[in-house]
Amino acid sequence: VSNVKQAMDTYLNGLRNQHAVETQAIGTIQNELPRMKAYPELHSKMEADHERSVTQAARLDDLLEKHGSKKSLLKEAVTGAVATVAGFTHAGAGDEVLKNVLAAIGFKAYEISSYKVLLALADAAGAGDDKPILEQSMKEEQEMGDWLGSHIPSFVDAYLAQKSA
Ligand SMILES: [Fe+2]
Repeated sequence: VSNVKQAMDTYLNGLRNQHAVETQAIGTIQNELPRMKAYPELHSKMEADHERSVTQAARLDDLLEKHGSKKSLLKEAVTGAVATVAGFTHAGAGDEVLKNVLAAIGFKAYEISSYKVLLALADAAGAGDDKPILEQSMKEEQEMGDWLGSHIPSFVDAYLAQKSA
């Protein structure tokens, strides 16, 4: 097995893993959205992130298809991931939205790094053409992570205001 072939196998596996990660994000956001209604700005940004995650997952699907990877098997794995995530329902702890924001920031950091890995693997696998697509998704993760991080003080204010209401 050549190095390039080996890199391609690793790359395709990485694309599949990231597809599962995006799918998990979709499920998590779906699950958390109803509890973010008291935070309108956060709610609409998370809705947009939900839509973006669907697009990001579709991009990964398209790349896999481009490299001849089967789509049908993938969809089954995806359904399973959503079901798993949807199973996490928390009782209404008051500060859970703040905890969700922190978790989301961590998740975004993980996703940014994952796309960095995929970019390096794409190079090694001779799939440099894929990079602009992966870079686009990485940029979106970065933007969302930055937005969440810079809005922490306003989330805390909104939480305190809600608590004293
Ligand atoms: Fe994502």
